[in-house]
Amino acid sequence: MTEWSKSSWRTKPRIQMPDYQDQAALNAVEAQLSKYPPLVFAGEARRLREELGKASRGEAFLLQGGDCAEAFDQFSANSIRDTFKVMLQMAMVLTYGAKVPVVKVGRMAGQFAKPRSAPTETVNGVELPSFRGDIINDLAFTPEARQPNPQKMLQAYTQAAATLNLLRAFSTGGYADVHEVHSWTLGFVEGEKAARYREMANRLSDTLDFIKAAGIDSSRSAALHQVNFYTSHESLLLEYEEALTRVDSTSGKWLAGSGHMIWIGDRTRQPDGAHVEFARGVMNPIGLKCGPSMTTEDLKVLIEKLNPDNEAGRLTLIARFGAGKVADHLPKLIQTVKEMGANVLWTCDPMHGNTIKSASGYKTRPFESVLSEVREFFAVHRDEGTVPGGVHFEMTGQDVTECTGGLYAVSDESLSDRYHTACDPRLNASQSLELAFLVAQELTALRQSPADVASA
Ligand code: PEP
Ligand code: CO
Repeated sequence: MTEWSKSSWRTKPRIQMPDYQDQAALNAVEAQLSKYPPLVFAGEARRLREELGKASRGEAFLLQGGDCAEAFDQFSANSIRDTFKVMLQMAMVLTYGAKVPVVKVGRMAGQFAKPRSAPTETVNGVELPSFRGDIINDLAFTPEARQPNPQKMLQAYTQAAATLNLLRAFSTGGYADVHEVHSWTLGFVEGEKAARYREMANRLSDTLDFIKAAGIDSSRSAALHQVNFYTSHESLLLEYEEALTRVDSTSGKWLAGSGHMIWIGDRTRQPDGAHVEFARGVMNPIGLKCGPSMTTEDLKVLIEKLNPDNEAGRLTLIARFGAGKVADHLPKLIQTVKEMGANVLWTCDPMHGNTIKSASGYKTRPFESVLSEVREFFAVHRDEGTVPGGVHFEMTGQDVTECTGGLYAVSDESLSDRYHTACDPRLNASQSLELAFLVAQELTALRQSPADVASA
């Protein structure tokens, strides 16, 4: 394979990236970002890789979730806290319910750039470039707003740094202490799943009381007082990624300093394209979205390129086929992985294959389809004897109405009530909790009697 450098992607075909008009302004921003501190450190990326390696063997489970696109105008401490809370709640359901350690990775602190299905958008006969996320251009439908502006990378960096700062404080400063399990409940979440969550939290508190009464001092255990929380985003805007890439002085390897884990989207995974070229040379855990168009030939080449040393935890394959389609696509990809003897972590993104336009005109995702895809994903792995190692979802801690369905039944008509996403429709806290209970149930069933379940 040819020599890699942090800028070797520039020699490859690129798609889904903006054409900046002002080259001098772009160069100046890249030069400035290159001097800024990286947001994450090599030791953290290594630790995450180890944890993902465990998930690939079924010794842990990956929860990866957050916004479809982080937005500049929705940036606030409360929204970061609430997304973090929902992740903690989901992790508690899995840890306590399914007795599995949970690797927590946010789609946060860098998830700004979006691939689009069309390069332009036409409204009332006016054609303008599509909105590509706040790191690139503005949502407003004017020629000025839609012009890609490199300065926006600096604001994205600042927002990512401030987000990560808060996440680090929440993770280690007492907020994520398991003794606080009751305080993670969001005020507006009611109904059967919220009651089940409270009941589980009560049992957990009882267990902690028992441990204390038995004379074991759990107040000293870091495992109960803090969590490891990692960040991730789609590595799409490669000028930004390159500018934050640094060499790790301990190992001499290159680290994408923009987030702990980066992934390659379903639209930009061409084996000879710029996005694969960039990702192959950095030491971070890499995700690869696998949609219905992924062929076994491409998957083979991609695995060889992205994980040549076959390290556990290096490569996460994120299946996103859509409900009703998992059995058509996943088995042949699993077969390829088996034939190669490749170490990969399989996770399920039940969001991106299930986007529809509702009768009311909103982009939405029926929650039933989301749950179905997760069930199908588990069923295929059960049949193949392989490990369903995680879920990847779009979620917010805010009380939104973006996906239809759920116990709290969001209807087609009520989508407009609180539809706030900057891009794709997200699960709200109550739907996220419901997803966690389903996953816990699937994991428990798998653990209890894999053979019986498979033959049932
Ligand atoms: C995303 O994760 O927001 C996304 C665009 O996904 P995909 O590449 O799978 O379509
Ligand atoms: Co999305």
